[in-house]
Amino acid sequence: MFGILKLGGSILCNKDIPYSINWDNLNRISMEIKQSIEEYSKKNEKLNLIIIHGGGSFGHPVAKKYINKNEFKNMNIGFWDIQKSMRKFNNIVIDALHEYDIPAVSIQPSSFVAFKGEDIYFDTYVIEGMLKRGLIPVIHGDITLSNEMDYKIFSGDHALPYLSKKLKPDLSLHASDVDGVLDFDNRVIKHITSENINEVLKYLSPSNKEDVTGGMYLKVMEAYKLGVKTIIFNGNKKGNIYKGLMGKEIGTKIN
Ligand code: IPE
Repeated sequence: MFGILKLGGSILCNKDIPYSINWDNLNRISMEIKQSIEEYSKKNEKLNLIIIHGGGSFGHPVAKKYINKNEFKNMNIGFWDIQKSMRKFNNIVIDALHEYDIPAVSIQPSSFVAFKGEDIYFDTYVIEGMLKRGLIPVIHGDITLSNEMDYKIFSGDHALPYLSKKLKPDLSLHASDVDGVLDFDNRVIKHITSENINEVLKYLSPSNKEDVTGGMYLKVMEAYKLGVKTIIFNGNKKGNIYKGLMGKEIGTKIN
């Protein structure tokens, strides 16, 4: 089984408090990942896994300091500042995974990922080699170069569809802080297809002001545009990461 799991920053942090970790969630999620690895191994199967995590209260507040009227400023300090904050966060996540003997290894996008217009340059040779060797790459949202002289935030919401399209996992999972994509009455939309996508986009409110990336709109659009089967579900709920990794039906399916 090959899965790519994005952990939204909002489930690993308290987004309102800069540099805050939600330790209960981080430990529980690590435990559920471990449980899934063990469950597959009992069935003589291997869970190949890539983990992606967002910026949460480490990425967004720092990135915001350097954005003025939608442009990055003062980036000879800013690039390093954002990179450093995300590196700290990534270390914390990886340390928690190591507590459960999960062979997590760090991938820092700011060092080698870039945007060319809307296209993403992201060489995956090493990541694929890590997977082959049983390692679990942990990629994070980050600051990246864009075009000739610009910068852009590389979100976990870019990474998940990009890697899913390229590496074709069996499961592409998006653990967020809501039960799935919700309609106006807060009911989970179980399935998004070409039949209802236009209707669904009407429900998606613009993301809140602490979020320098695109919120639910970006998650749904990116997955839909690329035609990647993605599940969006609530990673705050106990057992959901495990259920997701075991391929159970939860949240909203987009394909
Ligand atoms: C944002 O990544 C990264 C930075 C702000 C540097 P995401 O867009 O994936 O973060 P979350 O999941 O919304 O926190």
